[in-house]
Amino acid sequence: MTRRWIWLGLLLLTGCGGVAMEETAVSQALSQAVAPADCRTLAAQEPCDPRPQFAEYAADGQYDQFAWDLFLFVNWPAVPDERGVADGSQKLGKPAATAVWQTWKNVAEVYVAAGQTPLPWNSPIVSPLLETNMEIDGRLLTDKQGRPTLMQVNQNEATFDYIVNQRHLYSRAGQAAFFADPAAPPIEFPAEAIEVKAIWRILDAAEQQSGRYHVTEGCYTDDNGNKQCATLGMTALHLISKVQPHWFWATFEQADNPQTTNAPVLQPIAPAVAKLNEAMQTQVAGTPWQYYQLRGSQWSFMLGEQPVVLANTQIETQFQQSSSCMTCHAQSSIGAANSRAEMWDFAHGNVQGYVGNPPPFDNGKFKPLDYVWSLRRAK
Ligand code: HEC
Repeated sequence: MTRRWIWLGLLLLTGCGGVAMEETAVSQALSQAVAPADCRTLAAQEPCDPRPQFAEYAADGQYDQFAWDLFLFVNWPAVPDERGVADGSQKLGKPAATAVWQTWKNVAEVYVAAGQTPLPWNSPIVSPLLETNMEIDGRLLTDKQGRPTLMQVNQNEATFDYIVNQRHLYSRAGQAAFFADPAAPPIEFPAEAIEVKAIWRILDAAEQQSGRYHVTEGCYTDDNGNKQCATLGMTALHLISKVQPHWFWATFEQADNPQTTNAPVLQPIAPAVAKLNEAMQTQVAGTPWQYYQLRGSQWSFMLGEQPVVLANTQIETQFQQSSSCMTCHAQSSIGAANSRAEMWDFAHGNVQGYVGNPPPFDNGKFKPLDYVWSLRRAK
């Protein structure tokens, strides 16, 4: 993984593969690992990692295109029983495929019981027990039949390695030690880090056959404490990538959500994003991915004078109009006795997210945790 990233960096330095390379083991591995330098077409139908070219996307203002390319990259069919490896012999949209991100570590495997150590990255893949989608404001999102939607947070190897092996942040004890040590370097995830937050819902037989969903078999615990398993369809995916210091943020939804779940749409999709969605949906026509749409991406707190607002109806359901991914995540921090900076702006009555430039941060009281909120799960 790390080695491959270095090769990708080398490729970038040499001009996106434009320079002829010797037929060494390295260049062979490269030609297998990445699609042609142009990540903006699906014609090649190979898994293509857009991250090494982020600077180029940014220079062209193509952030939403980057979001789509990253979305397709992490949703590529995975090599079975391996962690985080895209299967180049499979096509995107292969029916019933497990996506690469589903083979990453689930947060339950990272933030283990106090006193325990997480298993190494390559531990056997177990299908995670999905959590009912109790949103961060404490409200539960249900489908039209009143059943809970289900949630899953996963992290890739670079994220896992940084939290577990490099900085020991998986436990409260580790976070407390970081807070107490004035000499500890700041928390700064590596450029390869990616995390996702996915929402699923239970599909009926017709929906399972419809070809409109990325599907999986999943289990959860119902209200009575009984384990239930069902065929699920993905309704939403949050994606963050540390390609820039403040991370890059994007969120996708399945097109039928307004009809199938009890989530209103309170923020329109920007016209330019809608246009890109149409173009990309055409590229992936014939696969379930054609029924997914980017709601938008976020790469800065403000655009001109305007605070950036971005939400997923399935995840920030009730506070879509005061949802800024970056501003809220900037509050992720650790203080004394497992305290954290406040994520809600209570100045305006109801539950409101902070938007725009982050509120003043009490550096004496808290140390920032580089936007990663799942760290609050440490035990
Ligand atoms: C008001 C605060 C808030 C807003 C707004 C918000 N999030 Fe989060 N997010 C959280 C919290 C809290 C968690 C941790 C949930 C958990 O693991 O218990 C989280 C978890 C995540 C995760 C899992 C990785 C991690 O550990 O941080 C991703 C990915 C994510 N959010 C992306 C986004 C994106 C993309 C947006 C904007 C579309 C967004 N979030 C908006 C608070 C927020």
